[in-house]
Order: sequence, then C-alpha cells, then structure tokens
Amino acid sequence: MSAQQTPVENLTEEQAAAELAFLAAEIARNDELYHGNDAPEISDAEYDALKRRNDAIEKRFPHLIRADSPSIRVGAAPLPTFAPITHSRPMLSLDNTFSDEDVRDFVSSVYRFLGQLPDGSIAFTAEPKIDGLSMSIRYEQGRLVNAATRGDGTTGENVTENVKTIKEIPNRLPAGAPDVVEVRGEVYMRKSDFLALNAQMEAEGRQTYVNPRNTAAGSLRQLDAKVTASRNLKFFAYTWGEMSEMPADTQMGMVEKFEEWGFPVNPLMKRLNKVDDIIAHYNEIGLKRPDLDYEIDGVVYKVDRLDLQARLGFRSRSPRWATAHKFPAEQAFTHVEKIDIQVGRTGALTPVARLTPVTVGGVVVTNATLHNEDYIRGIGNSGERIRDDEHDIRIGDTVIVQRAGDVIPQVLDVVMEKRPADAVPYEFPKKCPVCGSHAVREKNEKTGKLDSVTRCTGGFVCRAQAVEHLKHFVSRNAFDIEGLGAKQIDFFFESSDPALSIKTAPEIFTLKKRQEASELTKLENIEGFGKVSVKKLFGAIDERRNITLHRFIYALGIRHIGETNAKLLARAYGTYEAFEAAMKEAADFSGDAWEDLNNIEGIGEVVARALVEFFKEPRNVEVISRLLEEVTPQAAEQISASGSPVAGKTVVFTGSLEKFTREEAKARAESLGAKVAGSVSKKTDYVVAGPGAGSKLDKARELGVQVMDEDEWLVFIGG
Ligand code: IVH
Repeated sequence: MSAQQTPVENLTEEQAAAELAFLAAEIARNDELYHGNDAPEISDAEYDALKRRNDAIEKRFPHLIRADSPSIRVGAAPLPTFAPITHSRPMLSLDNTFSDEDVRDFVSSVYRFLGQLPDGSIAFTAEPKIDGLSMSIRYEQGRLVNAATRGDGTTGENVTENVKTIKEIPNRLPAGAPDVVEVRGEVYMRKSDFLALNAQMEAEGRQTYVNPRNTAAGSLRQLDAKVTASRNLKFFAYTWGEMSEMPADTQMGMVEKFEEWGFPVNPLMKRLNKVDDIIAHYNEIGLKRPDLDYEIDGVVYKVDRLDLQARLGFRSRSPRWATAHKFPAEQAFTHVEKIDIQVGRTGALTPVARLTPVTVGGVVVTNATLHNEDYIRGIGNSGERIRDDEHDIRIGDTVIVQRAGDVIPQVLDVVMEKRPADAVPYEFPKKCPVCGSHAVREKNEKTGKLDSVTRCTGGFVCRAQAVEHLKHFVSRNAFDIEGLGAKQIDFFFESSDPALSIKTAPEIFTLKKRQEASELTKLENIEGFGKVSVKKLFGAIDERRNITLHRFIYALGIRHIGETNAKLLARAYGTYEAFEAAMKEAADFSGDAWEDLNNIEGIGEVVARALVEFFKEPRNVEVISRLLEEVTPQAAEQISASGSPVAGKTVVFTGSLEKFTREEAKARAESLGAKVAGSVSKKTDYVVAGPGAGSKLDKARELGVQVMDEDEWLVFIGG
C-alpha cells in the first residue's frame, strides 16, 4: 500500500476508511515490535511516513477518525484546561419531581401562579431528559463561533474545537436564521457506541469506562479534538440561550425551528394539555427506555407558550415553567461491611455504610450514606418509620441500595431473613471520633424535639471541622481555586511546617509569601506538585483575591448559608462591611438590624439566628479580618436591571391584588431589582396596597412610606 499511494485528495470515503483501519493495525503492530525489543520491521522514516499518511487522511476525513487511531494512542493525555466562557444567559437546572402527585402539584402551581383556574387551557411539552452533558452552541451570522459546557451555569468551558467534530451539530445555519443564535441541548454517547468502546478497551487490556455520560464528558474535555472526533458523540437540541430574534413563540415551535436548521431533536417530544395525558406519556417513555440507544433519566415538562414562560420566570436556579419527572432509582443487593463516621464542616457526625462493591445502574457503589442515628434505627426526620417493621441497619446485614442520578446512594431496606445471628444493633458514638469532644443531639427550641443530627461540640478544636471548612472554602461555588482540591487541602492542613501549613483560609493567600521566604521547604520539590503546577496554583490563588460578595459569604461556611441564601444576603447588604456591621448590630436578636435581617424575603428565623451566632464568635471575626487583608469581596451588583425605578428599593405588597397573584407580583418586582419584604419598617420604600389592606397599610402611613395601589404600581414599573 505504501509504494503507489493514491493522493489523499483523491481517496473516496470508503478507501479512506479502509486505509485508516490498515494504518491503525500496522502502526500498532510496529509499536509493539519496537517496544517489545524485537527487531523492528521498518525504519524510523518509514514509520513516520505511515503516521503522516494517517494524519493526512484524518485531516480530510475527521469523521472517520477511529477510536484506536494511532494519532490518539500516543502518550498519556495531558490534563485538560479550557478557557472559560461566560454564558450570555445563565444555563439553568431543573427542579425534580418524583411522583404523579408531584406532577399534579407542578401543573396546578403553574395555573395558580398565573392566577388561572386549572381548566386544561395551558399546553405543556413533554420530552425525555437525556443523561448527557448540556452544551451551549453560539452562531453569529449563521456560523458556529463557540461552544461551551454548562460549568457552574454562569461560566462554562470553551470546547468549540471539540464540538465542531460532532457530525450531528451543523457548523452553519441556513440563510434566514437570526444573526445571533444560541442553541442548547445535550451531548451524549449512544449506549451501543459506549459498549463497543468498552469492549475494545477491554480487549486491549485498558481501563474501561464507567458509563456513557462520563465517557461523553471525558471525550469532550480532550485537548486533542481528534479524540472527540473518534467517539461519535451525538446531540439533541431542546432549548436556547441568547437569540437576536425569536423565530417562534412556543417551546414546540422553537424545537421545530432547530430541526429545520439541521439539529437533531428528540422524536418523543409531545405537546399535551391534560395532566393525565402528561403522566401517560411519561409512562410510555418509561416503557421505551430500555430500547432507546441513549440513556434517559426522566421526562421534562415545559410550559409551551413562551409568553407564559416569561411571566412564570425563575426561582433561584430553576424555572417555574419546567420540571423534570425522574424515573425511579435503580436498586441492588449487597452487604454492610462496616459503618464509619464522617465529621463534617458543621460538626455533623454522618454514618457511612461501607458496602461490598455492587453495580447499581452501571455504576459501582461501595459507600452509602446512613444520614444519622435515627436513620440507622429506621426512623425518619419526623419520627416516622422508614422501613418495614422495626428494621434497623447492622454491620453484616444484607441490604437493598438505591442510586438515583448523581445522588449519594442510599440504603433502602434490610433483608431480615439474611441477618447473621450475631449481628448487634449499631451503637452511635457519644464522642467525636476525630477530636474526642462530646457529640450531642441538640434540642430544637421550637418543637422541643431532638435534632436528628449528632454534632461534635469541639468547634475549632476539631481537626475534622477545620479541614472541612477549608475544603468548603475552596469548593466550586465558593473560592473555586484550581489546583487546590480536597487532596491538597489535606496535605497543607497536616503540615506543621510554617512555610507550608494552612489551618485557616487566610493562610491560603499567604502561602506564596511564606514559600518565597523559606529556604528549606520548597513546594515544587514535594511529590505531586512540581514547578509548573506550583506556579499555576499561586496564579489561581491570586486570581481569587477579588471575589463576588455572594461567593465570599457562601465560602465562610456559616450554617444554613448555601448559595441561595448567600445571594440573598449579598443583594440585601451590598457590601461585606455593611453585612458584617448589621450582623454584629443584631447580636441581641432585637432592634432594627435584627428586624431587617428577618425581613429579607427567603431568610427565616433559624437562618437569621445562625448568622448572628456566627458573628458573635470572636474567633470567626478574627479569621475573617485576616482574610480581608488578603481578599477583596466586590460590592454586589444590586441587580442588573439598574435602569429600573425600583432597583435596590424595598417593597411590601399587602391586601389582595387583582392583576397578578402575589407570587407573580413579587417575582416581577424582584426581577426589576427590588427587594420584597414581608413587613413594613423604616427601610420600606413602597407599599403596594390592594383592597382589604390592614395593619401594614396603617404602619406605612404612620411611618410616611409611599403607598400605591396596584395600577399605580404597574405604571410606576413601566407596565
Ligand atoms: S431543559 C431552563 N430539557 O437536565 C431549562 N434539560 O436538570 C433548561 N437535560 O442542565 C433545561 N434533557 O443538561 C432540558 N429535554 C431536556 C433535557 C434537559 C436533559 C438536562 C440539562 C439540564 C439538566 C437540568
């Protein structure tokens, strides 16, 4: 084949495929001969010529690149790094529903929000939820300009070159498409392709892949786009980001447009009005599930009319107009080998069952959370029995484990017939296994009931709590420092060397200085680091010296303060200084600052208390003040709708509203940058009062707060 080669430009597709197969085998054979120390059959120059020929053919026919292509096999894959892309519109996630009843609730909540009777007049689309990776693909003037993964929803990774190799995704849109189009959907790997790839990996004695989804993700996050090309990834388009012009006014219409433009769309998508029909379609898709050549994990419902979607808007990170109806989780039998206790950031002692490895839905499960003492005993959070009879979980038991999506596996039930005769009830520790401090179950002051969580009382003394705090601090939604993950935190935390040790967050930011000053312990000489990675790490740390306020607040690891609450606080207080000052002012749980805090819509009393308690601890304040010497939290953007007359203002709705439901009025005001409060105080800017308004209206008058009726309010916010 080498003497008289057909020029690459004259090869037919069939010839090219045949030759690539030949070259893959031939090059692999010569690699073997060479590395196996046998006499190589060909010279280096001939070998290089084979590889060049292979590359040239692959360049002309990228879709023919084989999984075993010689251009891919060489060397270990470098750690991929991709440039970030900030999404023009955030990529959101979906709320989950698990039962028919949840679906009925979802549908009625849509009607309720819109102030309509549930008369079946609203249409919903129902389509499979594809278990792949979401991708946003941007076209300008009809050309594919970039493609990004979802990332944290705000910023994803630029994987344009890799996405361009996916045959199903058009590189150009037909004439007439809007100037800016962002098509979003799911990149996935077919089950059959996954199985074939794994069979091949196994035949070659290489590590096999876990599931199609992870393989698709790994195939995309390759620096070498050829690898992506060889994996035959697929795509379904189902939503969009920025559009310079809307080509349709319904969900279905948009998807039909995508199809017209050449995108694959899912054939099982239907438009339905009645809840019963929606649920029937879910069941039908469930029956088809085993025969589909792609993994799905549920059915997604969306309100079809886009004007209604706009009115319904969003709650935190997910739309009110859509939900994912998940399929029941997969289950398997295995044994509990032992029960370990993990100590978390807030001191919670979480029992974990160590299981004999078992495959559940294609993934090997070795651990399952047992949540808390009661759960092991078979009692739920409200004191209810969660397993038949009195089934507790014991070491040695045969149990049913369940895995649903990416959720941590659960132990569902115990097979009592198989319980060993000598199995004894598990005794929950009375002391923290890490620091030895007392472990207690606090009493809920309101209900008088014991909290289900057992907590270590060691606080800062407890190494486990301190190290978990640090891990939380650097985690993805907090400081997100690249190169500083759980493993590295463990290392720095354990070190007693002054040039290396990190015990609290501020020390992350002084590490570089301490390293520079130290003659002896150089990080780059320590196994697992190296010069380049140390430089990168310091770069990544420096990059985070400026950080958004909500990330900063979230990173502090205050009990009950997740991302959503951190955002509420950032928005309410604007700057870190204002936030801290207010928390300290509220120290005695009374007065204006305390009231304002409780008035933030979405912050309840338990959360408010946790915040104030946190700032009453001098040690916390001291760590933060050291942190602020290194890091500058940015003032929170009060809201993007800065042109709006109500941005940054506090509004109270009272009495009955006629044009909107209370929920919609509130969502609308918030989307314009207003804060909606539940009660009237000196800080209230406007009260919108409908018929029947009572004490809140009186209080507004008393305090001289501006009062409007619903119509005046609508004019005020611009319709
Ligand atoms: S719609 C604003 N439709 O599920 C709504 N998502 O849990 C945007 N997904 O991140 C998503 N199939 O990756 C939608 N037919 C489908 C989907 C789907 C899979 C994924 C998507 C999203 C996640 C949300």
